Amino acid sequence: MNRVVAIAALLACSAAAANDERAQFNYIIHCQGCHLPDAMGFQDTVPRMNNFLGYFLHSQDGREFVIQVPGVSTARLPDDEIAELMNWLINTYSAEQRPESFVPYTQSEVGELRRSPDADPLRTRTRILRAIAVAEPALANKLITGYIE
Ligand code: HEC
Repeated sequence: MNRVVAIAALLACSAAAANDERAQFNYIIHCQGCHLPDAMGFQDTVPRMNNFLGYFLHSQDGREFVIQVPGVSTARLPDDEIAELMNWLINTYSAEQRPESFVPYTQSEVGELRRSPDADPLRTRTRILRAIAVAEPALANKLITGYIE
């Protein structure tokens, strides 16, 4: 019996590890070319996700936006792997910025959201970050930009 429990625990661990590996692999293949290793972004053109992405999760609009942004919604990845990738990105690179109440994305939520990609992401992000700054003034000076200047 103990052996069965031990094997089940081992399998559970390796499944979790494999998912993180897959998320990282997907990041490298589908995102890193623009967002760069460590998700630092590219001067003036690609926003920094490192120590920033989690701020969007302070609003429902922001939560939706980071899936609807074209680089995510049109990525050649199935919904479950997008959810896995975004949860991994948030937890790996922006755990300090995400709210404590963060609930991981699910396959069905991602599937729903990516059906309507954002046509004007720069405008949407500005609107969302302003709204978060108004709702949470303590964050205001941190939300001015996610771009490296
Ligand atoms: C071809 C380059 C490119 C690729 C590939 C790409 N992105 Fe992006 N990403 C951008 C640019 C540029 C923006 C700024 C908004 C825009 O113009 O779409 C952006 C914005 C974002 C944002 C919004 C962040 C913010 O602060 O506004 C997220 C989240 C994001 N990308 C995640 C990803 C993920 C995850 C992948 C891989 C599945 C990916 N991107 C692939 C270029 C890219």
